[in-house]
Amino acid sequence: MKILFYGAKKYDEQSFRWHLKEYPEISIKFIEANIYEETAALSRGYDAICAFVNADLSANILKTLHENNISLLLMRCAGYNNIDLRAAREYGMTILRVPGYSPEAVAEHAMALVLTANRHTHKAYIKCRENNFALNGLMGVNLYGKTAGIVGTGKIGQAMAKICRGFGMRVIGYDAYPNFALDFLEYVPLQELLQTSDLISLHCPLTDETHHMINATSIHQMKDGVMLVNTSRGGLIKTEDLIDGIRERKFFAVGLDVYEEETDFVYEDMSEEIMPRSTMARLLSFPNVTITSHQGFFTQEALSAIASTTLENARAYLNKETLQNEVK
Ligand code: NAI
Repeated sequence: MKILFYGAKKYDEQSFRWHLKEYPEISIKFIEANIYEETAALSRGYDAICAFVNADLSANILKTLHENNISLLLMRCAGYNNIDLRAAREYGMTILRVPGYSPEAVAEHAMALVLTANRHTHKAYIKCRENNFALNGLMGVNLYGKTAGIVGTGKIGQAMAKICRGFGMRVIGYDAYPNFALDFLEYVPLQELLQTSDLISLHCPLTDETHHMINATSIHQMKDGVMLVNTSRGGLIKTEDLIDGIRERKFFAVGLDVYEEETDFVYEDMSEEIMPRSTMARLLSFPNVTITSHQGFFTQEALSAIASTTLENARAYLNKETLQNEVK
């Protein structure tokens, strides 16, 4: 099987090459370019493409892939909201993903965002390096004894719930499909979660139903001084409403690993570019907002699991085995 690997970074190539040794029947061509209209044409002569969360797999791109006889999309990520599923079905494409490569990696990053946004360690680091040992602006709040609200209690949500529990927090959760796997987690309606949580951490997928679930109305329901963390998908939050909420002093801290508009520049060095929109700049202007660049997944363990599962998915497809990780 010949796979064209879009948007390859050095770290992707390293982890895939390491595992590729075990798959002599598979070859991969790594290219730096992500997939868009022009680069989709490069897929001619390959059997499958491999793409990531930031790939544009809308209908016209899928059409080009289909014309090039690509019938397999190997997503090296969990989410697939960037794929036009209807078009993929129409073209008879199989989509395989990596559903849970390391829930702990993402949950640990969510807590890193909470701690950074709350205790301002990013600012303290810079200040101390400049011999500024004053504490002004660094005050945080205890997490111990507070209530953590987990929205979406799947693999990552549960890992986050355990971490919050370890910090001595009361943990409540909301899920469209509660699973009662954790005996310490109390399920409540979403409105109650919004009204009673000191920390709200988002871990549900982006769907039509969850799109903009954090908006002016839900923000209004939250406690004053709440901390909000999003490591799931940017579209869960209506950014303009979040900005209004921040201006109205609703939030003690906001931590975002994902945000609307990220597709245009995530994983790219834009330090010398003039950004086309100002939403990001406005978010970054607030002292209580901490932003990272969709890096929740980015640990050695997770990258290794992504590579091995993606290659295993390809092998199962090649051998016509039951596909465990198919997106239906
Ligand atoms: P999962 O499928 O194990 O859990 C998702 C949970 O959300 C499920 O329990 C599901 O019932 C629930 N859910 C579905 N619809 C809902 C709704 N309308 N309201 C409330 N809950 C709902 O997924 P997992 O592995 O925990 O991942 C969660 C999300 O994290 C992914 O969808 C992805 O967007 C994001 N993610 C972010 C990464 C990062 O690097 N920042 C890396 C990996 C995933």
